[in-house]
Amino acid sequence: MAKSGQNNRVVSGIRPTGGTHLGNYHGALKNWVALQHEYECYFFVADWHALTTHYDDSADLDNYVQEIIIDWLAAGLNPNMCTMFIQSRVVEHAELHVLLSMITPLSWLERVPTYKDQQERLKKKDLSTFGFLGYPLLQSADILLYRPAYVPVGADQVAHVEITREIARRFNHLYGREPGFEDKANDAVRKLGGKNAKLYQQMRRKYQEKGELEALEKGKAIVMDHASLTLADRERLLGFLEGGGRNILVEPEALLTPTPKVPGLDGQKMSKSYNNTIGLREDPDSVDKKLRTMQTDPARVRRTDPGTPEKCPVWELHKIYSDEQTLEWVQEGCTTAGIGCIDCKKKLIERVVSEIEEMRTRAREYEENPEFVRSIIAEGCEDARDAARDTMDEVRQAMGLDYR
Ligand code: TRP
Ligand code: SF4
Repeated sequence: MAKSGQNNRVVSGIRPTGGTHLGNYHGALKNWVALQHEYECYFFVADWHALTTHYDDSADLDNYVQEIIIDWLAAGLNPNMCTMFIQSRVVEHAELHVLLSMITPLSWLERVPTYKDQQERLKKKDLSTFGFLGYPLLQSADILLYRPAYVPVGADQVAHVEITREIARRFNHLYGREPGFEDKANDAVRKLGGKNAKLYQQMRRKYQEKGELEALEKGKAIVMDHASLTLADRERLLGFLEGGGRNILVEPEALLTPTPKVPGLDGQKMSKSYNNTIGLREDPDSVDKKLRTMQTDPARVRRTDPGTPEKCPVWELHKIYSDEQTLEWVQEGCTTAGIGCIDCKKKLIERVVSEIEEMRTRAREYEENPEFVRSIIAEGCEDARDAARDTMDEVRQAMGLDYR
């Protein structure tokens, strides 16, 4: 559990480009389920992001979004422990996106590695659109809107968190310098009270003169632990500590958690675009059939040929699903041709199906009651909007857009 007063907010999103599969589950969702117990979490369906690449295929979006929320609930996200919402239902994402677009150099967007990579990979699609170039900036808006400390993402998204930090820095630099900043900051220091004010000044000096990161952290903690400060004063103190203006937007950190490689049925990475997936709530018979015909070590042609688990995608799945004992049994049996691939797969199928059965059981009450799901979504969107509005008030004010 994070210490009191510290920013322990987390934001992350998933694009609804199809139903959730086991790759999504082990890659992201399972991690989210764990995070909700420790952090203040905002998880959303990034439907606008889906449109950046699937703009010609938006008719089913409504369905996908509803199904994805059911997947999240089935996987164990609890609406009482985290905020689940839909990007397009919190229009502040678009407002912040447009405002940030004014200060974002084109070259920053052009050099994000995913830009060229994805265009290469999805050659059939025309991705020379304004929306697609702006993908990372929309993601920055998604994140900065909630001022989180952390963004749990896979390694492929780290560049997007990095540009988010750069944009926050640029924004704070441009708009954090209100008239009379020093005086206001010094007033705010006094509000910390004698002992803490002194300590804050010490930490500020240590950080600015010697670059001591520990002093910076201590200084931040003094500010964050002081509950009665206004938001504006808190931003002043945090910015003043680092030697800049007000920190209106917060630079988040990527929260990288090691995730297993989840192979698809053909041995490539499990992905909807390879058509090699197993759904989170797929029918057990279909799961059974798919796994029985899953790619194995190509060198193991006959039952009597010994195999090499490291060359077999079924083994990769075993590593995710099976216990030590079973893993040893596979190693031993495969390399000595003591077991056949079907024996090996049967053990795996048992585990996968039992996990999927759990998901299906949990999903049932939601599948039978779409109104209930809609109310969970509505509530999540409401909570997200509240948080988003706070930030936008600050942003508009800082930019001088708070006129009526
Ligand atoms: N780009 C992310 C992905 O493809 C999805 C995403 C959109 C996201 N907005 C976000 C992730 C904000 C984290 C935070 O996985
Ligand atoms: Fe793969 Fe198992 Fe067959 Fe070995 S026995 S090749 S690990 S499926």
